[in-house]
Amino acid sequence: WPASAERVDGALHVGGADVRAIAAEHGTPFLLVDEAVVRDRARRIRLAFEAAFGDARVDVYYAGKALLTADVARWMREEGLVLDVATGGELAVALRAGVEPAAIGFHGNNKSEAEIAAGVEAGVGTFVLDSPIEAERVAAAAERAGRVQRVRLRISVGVHASTHEFLATSHEDQKFGVPLDEAPALVARIRELPGLELVGLHTHIGSQIFDADGFAESARRMLALHASLGADGQLPELNLGGGFGIAYTAADSPEPIEAIAAGLADAVRTAADELGIPVPRIAIEPGRWIVGPAGISVYTVGTVKPVRLGEGTRTYVSVDGGMGDNPRPALYGAQYSARIASRSSDAEPALVRVAGRHCESGDIVVDAEWLPGDVAPGDLLAVAATGAYCHSLASNYNLAPRPPVLAVRDGEVRALVRRESIDDLLARDAGLERPAGRHA
Ligand code: LLP
Repeated sequence: WPASAERVDGALHVGGADVRAIAAEHGTPFLLVDEAVVRDRARRIRLAFEAAFGDARVDVYYAGKALLTADVARWMREEGLVLDVATGGELAVALRAGVEPAAIGFHGNNKSEAEIAAGVEAGVGTFVLDSPIEAERVAAAAERAGRVQRVRLRISVGVHASTHEFLATSHEDQKFGVPLDEAPALVARIRELPGLELVGLHTHIGSQIFDADGFAESARRMLALHASLGADGQLPELNLGGGFGIAYTAADSPEPIEAIAAGLADAVRTAADELGIPVPRIAIEPGRWIVGPAGISVYTVGTVKPVRLGEGTRTYVSVDGGMGDNPRPALYGAQYSARIASRSSDAEPALVRVAGRHCESGDIVVDAEWLPGDVAPGDLLAVAATGAYCHSLASNYNLAPRPPVLAVRDGEVRALVRRESIDDLLARDAGLERPAGRHA
């Protein structure tokens, strides 16, 4: 729950605003982010890594894929972060929000020619190259634009991050980056290409990681590669990626980010000492850690239905959202915590399953949660830690309009992204532009 969450007369307040009043004004479901929490966490992770690395310069790239709106991009710049984008769409939001191109890093394992051209022409700070083919493409685009493009090369370090299979990105059999042993040849090729300036290596071992050893091992392997390339001139930067885990339920207990930063800095300094090289400029790319805990999703309970299972029953509490606004339980079996937000209750807790409104039995919001036994239609239900990878992963399954992203600051609520309307959804249905009844 966001640090500002509190109960006032039984009702949940976040950032000084009453969730019931927000629901009355904006309807449900909605995603609410506490601006102060986002900003505090952005600053906190930057300061943690700056303190841990001491003199070595640290750049913190906010991974926009977690949650990107114009305001979120601006908050990051104001808190001293730079921005990582992974598509032309994310790039466009950042640029139109006024983020300086030089403060943007462009990721992605298969950027299109158009995306590459847009990034080069806008003057983005760095591209992260993911393959030999992409190196040639970016070099050609840079030459066409008459520029030298700064690039980093993504390495797959072979570290098995202990997280969900789909969230691990640096074991052997996955699509990202080039393996350690293929890196030197590609680095040599990149250094030959006149359109490119190689400024450093990059890796990212996965997401929602609690095990600090994975980060440390990846840093050691990257430093060794970094050092081995020094014969042709030391690369200035080393980007160690994101992936810092957060708590979704009481069962999760991530280490404080300061401890993770200190451990990583230790691993980097020790490895640099052993290799006899200076510690390079370090970059990290957190997304979830910054915005995840700052957001809650608020739904209205529609039906409460006991379903008989052999001897017992399971109670399904269905809400007015679900996998359309948060597919993470369906995709990864992700766990969340939920509370009734509109009132307190003295009723005995009951173990229920919170389900969504979509046409799939896998449309689960919270698989198993203890809610007051009198949970009833009309109650507002809040789900914690939905700031990251919910809005950004949302879909229109069943033509359900996507909820708004609201932000609260000092008790004032404003929309970062407005609620999608049925008209928004129908606007792209080309058949509706033809007269009804003509099936041409
Ligand atoms: N850098 C790169 C290259 C990445 O691919 C990612 C995440 C990040 C940084 C940020 O990772 P974070 O700090 O947020 O863990 N949809 C999944 C997460 C996918 C993460 C993709 N890449 C989920 O909902 O859990």
